Amino acid sequence: MKNYTNIILAGIVVVLAAALIGVLAYAKNQTSTERATQPLVEIAPMEPDSAKWGVNFPNQYDTLMKTKTNNIDTTYAGSSQFSWLERDPRQVILFAGYPFSKDYNDDRGHANALEDVRATKRLNLDDTNPKHTPATCYSCKSTDNPGLWDRLGMEAYDKMTFNEMTPNINNSIGCSNCHEAGTMRLIATNPALKEALAAQGKDWETFTRQEMRTVVCANCHVEYYFKGDGKYLTFPWEKGTDIDSMLAYYEEEGFKDWEYPDTGTPMLKAQHPEYEFFTAGSTHYNAGVSCADCHMPYVREGAAKYSSHDVHSPLLNPEQACGQCHTDTESVIRRVNTIQEQVATTKISTEDAIIDAVTAIKAAVANGKADPALLDQARKLHRESQFIWDIVSAENSTGFHNPEYALKILADATNRARQAQMLAAQSIGDTSLLATGSYYATPAP
Ligand code: HEC
Ligand code: HEC
Ligand code: HEC
Ligand code: HEC
Repeated sequence: MKNYTNIILAGIVVVLAAALIGVLAYAKNQTSTERATQPLVEIAPMEPDSAKWGVNFPNQYDTLMKTKTNNIDTTYAGSSQFSWLERDPRQVILFAGYPFSKDYNDDRGHANALEDVRATKRLNLDDTNPKHTPATCYSCKSTDNPGLWDRLGMEAYDKMTFNEMTPNINNSIGCSNCHEAGTMRLIATNPALKEALAAQGKDWETFTRQEMRTVVCANCHVEYYFKGDGKYLTFPWEKGTDIDSMLAYYEEEGFKDWEYPDTGTPMLKAQHPEYEFFTAGSTHYNAGVSCADCHMPYVREGAAKYSSHDVHSPLLNPEQACGQCHTDTESVIRRVNTIQEQVATTKISTEDAIIDAVTAIKAAVANGKADPALLDQARKLHRESQFIWDIVSAENSTGFHNPEYALKILADATNRARQAQMLAAQSIGDTSLLATGSYYATPAP
């Protein structure tokens, strides 16, 4: 009998211990998201006013608002709006014939997105001009969008002009761009993201919380284009999100952003492909690190622990951004400096090669007797080399998000540009066009 009692007691102890472990594990797994969802005020679905959400979540709101006044620069990025065209005048040549050759500034914090899109000289607000700016340009700038997409549908939204849409857009980026009211979970809010994932047979609703801490940024920090006359916002991901797949997609669509003056090349402009670049097998991505790990680290304020919504360059707060995983932050920051310097230097060599290709193709076209097949091949390589270069250039980390990939694709871009130059020289049998360094010979316009 005593034996039985012991066994029963032992059994009870085991069951209790298991239950306790379960409770502890459950408590540990409870994300701060879940703990934070006892609303003080009810937030309407897709509420565009972040201040209303801020009543329930003042820390997240206050930190988001800090992005309004951030203005500290780092070596290659930061939060002021310095001009890329002044820093790197080669880009004036590379984007000739396209609005990016007129105005191209570095990005600022989320709370400035609306002000900045309205101020850029790239806008064409003459609605009678066929090249007028479409409403689509507002897609990544405002908390008003989720509600508008829900009411109008994205197709009707994108068919409007920028001017027509302006009265509907009153708030910069905020809560409703990333969260579902009520549950506060991270969600895909941009229909173009949902469609691009669906085209690859993926459904964001099945993603883990850690995956969403990256995918939520892909609502905006991606490569995209405006498809067809309806300017339908589209991510070129049908074949995959790596550079070769995106190039193959654009090839099949026969899409061009503009035609390069005097070479006749159908050009592509890369946007801000942080998501595609980071997820193309980077060390951090492969290790399961998310965008939010570095850009929205947890901070403590008294008893409260929350994700900083003051999103900016992690080089400004490496102890918080990197220190959670790297004990020696000074040495990893030195490594970042080396990576960025190497990528920035390599990028300039690629730009020189593309400018040499442009110079040679222009001469071949002006000659009038070029072999058309060779010239066409040269244009194709010019288009490809610039797009590949631009993935690294328009991506905002100066290679850090995926250092090996940056150097690999820059080498590929340089190679294609040099081939384009050779074919152009061959097309008119002029070996003087094989000379390098034409950028230095003809200063920027
Ligand atoms: C391992 C940490 C890490 C991860 C993960 C990470 N970043 Fe970054 N990010 C950086 C660093 C470092 C820089 C370089 C900042 C600089 O040069 O000042 C940067 C730069 C940027 C910039 C430009 C910042 C500026 O000041 O203009 C943007 C935008 C950005 N990242 C977005 C993203 C997105 C979106 C993701 C996920 C797809 C991501 N990052 C993932 C560390 C990270
Ligand atoms: C709704 C669209 C949208 C979403 C979602 C979004 N961003 Fe941004 N982000 C932007 C825009 C637009 C800018 C540039 C704003 C400007 O220049 O005025 C920007 C700027 C930035 C910058 C530069 C800030 C600075 O001070 O220079 C960083 C870093 C950044 N985003 C990281 C992220 C990360 C990480 C995520 C995901 C957690 C994310 N963003 C989600 C649209 C978005
Ligand atoms: C650019 C995207 C983005 C925007 C804008 C944004 N959040 Fe977040 N938010 C996140 C991410 C990423 C997390 C981390 C979620 C996780 O780990 O599950 C987060 C976490 C949270 C959490 C959970 C607690 C915590 O701090 O980790 C709350 C609450 C929250 N956000 C409230 C807000 C409020 C309120 C706003 C508007 C004032 C807002 N967020 C705007 C991306 C965003
Ligand atoms: C959530 C954890 C995490 C965070 C946050 C994080 N890292 Fe890392 N980092 C890793 C892991 C894991 C590796 C891979 C380690 C390995 O393979 O030895 C790594 C590797 C690196 C490497 C070497 C890999 C290479 O490609 O050269 C550098 C440099 C680095 N991290 C810099 C940073 C910087 C800078 C930050 C902050 C902006 C940062 N990391 C934030 C987890 C993190």
